[in-house]
Amino acid sequence: MLVQDHLISIRSLTRDDILFLLKTAEELRTNPQPELLKGKLLASCFYEPSTRTRLSFEAAMLRLGGQVITVAEPKTEALSDGLRVIGSYADILVIRHPLEGSAQLASEVCSIPVINAGDGANQHPTQTLTDLFAMQQCFGQLEGLEVAFVGDLRYGRTVHSLARACALFDQRLYLISPPRLEMPEPLLNELRRSGLRSSGHESVEEIIEKVDLLYCTRLQRERMGSDPIDGYQINPDVLTSAKPSMRIFHPMPRADELPMSVDTSPHAYYFEQAAGGVFVRQALLAHLLGAL
Ligand code: NCD
Repeated sequence: MLVQDHLISIRSLTRDDILFLLKTAEELRTNPQPELLKGKLLASCFYEPSTRTRLSFEAAMLRLGGQVITVAEPKTEALSDGLRVIGSYADILVIRHPLEGSAQLASEVCSIPVINAGDGANQHPTQTLTDLFAMQQCFGQLEGLEVAFVGDLRYGRTVHSLARACALFDQRLYLISPPRLEMPEPLLNELRRSGLRSSGHESVEEIIEKVDLLYCTRLQRERMGSDPIDGYQINPDVLTSAKPSMRIFHPMPRADELPMSVDTSPHAYYFEQAAGGVFVRQALLAHLLGAL
């Protein structure tokens, strides 16, 4: 059983909580429950662009028999005022907002469960559950995998949440980022204290033979100043020295770092990864609403 009211940060989930949610997601994938959340209403509050996260939450709710209301064009008002009112209309609320701490704020002013769908560069815990679900599908287990993060590790919230989960499952991390886009030092220190094994590298070539998973991210230009920073690009030639079982994940959307020529590679798994997001969000909605 999940003993929490909200999901604001991946830090609040134990290893067992995560395995439990992934197990439920798999059960809902193989055995759909179209009536499970009948009569329940999700408030879908996205104050930043979103395709996969928003639509997979909404699809998850609708496929479980629930309904959805959304914020279309937010008024100019204190965020807490708007959220407090929306919280009185629905049974559960999902929020994405550019401000770090916005989901925490929502959980303080709403009396219903709140799920963080991305707060600035801080956290994106349901993307992490989606990533872990995809890892289980690819590798059959999570323990001890060798994982490389490539790209913007400073402003990318998906890697900030995922790194914490990597520590919980004793995965080893290889960190590859352009200068000035390294993972924030305080977060890295926190992860190392919790036992994470990690090292920094200059190029994908250095580590490609060793890794089970290449997790690519785009440069989060909307969170950077105007300084141009060049990112990495996954060159299909580099992949020839990867293990046959190596898989490439990307939370999407992609930019130049992952050319479409990689899509036909047997290593590419990012579209399947995104598809699983509906099941993990179904599991989370069902548990937070006490339906399972
Ligand atoms: C990510 C996000 O919004 O943080 N996308 C997503 O939720 N799948 C990654 C990104 O925008 O680069």
